[in-house]
Amino acid sequence: MKNDWVLILGSSTGHGASIARSLAKEGYGVIGFHFDRGPLKKEAEAFCKELSALNNNRTIFWNENAASQETIDKRITEIKKLVGENRIKLLMHSIAFGSTTNFFEPAPVRQNQMDMTLHVMANCIIYWTQALLKNDLIGSGTRILGLTSEGSYKAMSGYGPVGVAKAALEAVVRQVGWELGHLGITANTIQAGITPTRALTKISENWEEWVDKTKERNPMKRVTTPEDVAGVVSLLLDEKANFVNCSTIYCDGGEHRSL
Ligand SMILES: NC(=O)c1ccc[n+]([C@@H]2O[C@H](COP(=O)([O-])OP(=O)(O)OC[C@H]3O[C@@H](n4cnc5c(N)ncnc54)[C@H](O)[C@@H]3O)[C@@H](O)[C@H]2O)c1
Repeated sequence: MKNDWVLILGSSTGHGASIARSLAKEGYGVIGFHFDRGPLKKEAEAFCKELSALNNNRTIFWNENAASQETIDKRITEIKKLVGENRIKLLMHSIAFGSTTNFFEPAPVRQNQMDMTLHVMANCIIYWTQALLKNDLIGSGTRILGLTSEGSYKAMSGYGPVGVAKAALEAVVRQVGWELGHLGITANTIQAGITPTRALTKISENWEEWVDKTKERNPMKRVTTPEDVAGVVSLLLDEKANFVNCSTIYCDGGEHRSL
């Protein structure tokens, strides 16, 4: 099984990076996409080397927009070569991208902001799955996972387009699992609690205050870490989780149950 590969969209920081590290340690080959400039690009290169040392040089990172159809078409043949006789065990969507704004103020949200956010944060999973299926890269035992948040059903400042995309992500994943379940392919979302990552700092200037309030309201009195989420991903890869499909799994210490 560990000869298999995992494909992580958004692999350089935050949740995606932690998932990549834990699965590389388990011996999976890691194919990662990230979209970084400047110092973050250099950090991603160093991180890719770190992973390669963990999984016998079976790590490759591409610094490209993973949501573009051009990227999918260009890379799918290379992925097929890398994976060979083995399979993609996991397609993990961990991209953080989108317009962090409201619908009306300070400026009306534009259609292209909505469309782009929805495409990158939800719909691109459909096109990746189609390409992987067509190329016989996924099959029985493959997991498709996305990361959702409380914002899929709660309104909050700066989360207009992303909130819509999170609701769409859950619908996309549900439908993928529903259509592909008969092949033994399962699709689920993990709802992570507030996690201090780069993405969080972009949603609000007051993110530190947000973190403090979350620690108070979380039944376990702390925020979620990327390692918490990586642990759940690892559990879901086990064959004991073969029948978990079309679901949202919470990894937040009970935060969503607390006011
Ligand atoms: N941080 C939280 O509080 C939280 C909570 C729940 C869910 N999530 C979700 O978890 C996911 C990961 O977020 P994070 O907090 O780890 O953020 P992050 O900013 O640390 O990581 C985002 C990753 O996405 C990559 N990326 C961005 N645009 C890309 C593109 N077009 N193509 C390829 N890669 C791209 C970045 O390079 C980076 O690797 C997001 O979907 C986010 O909504 C985050």
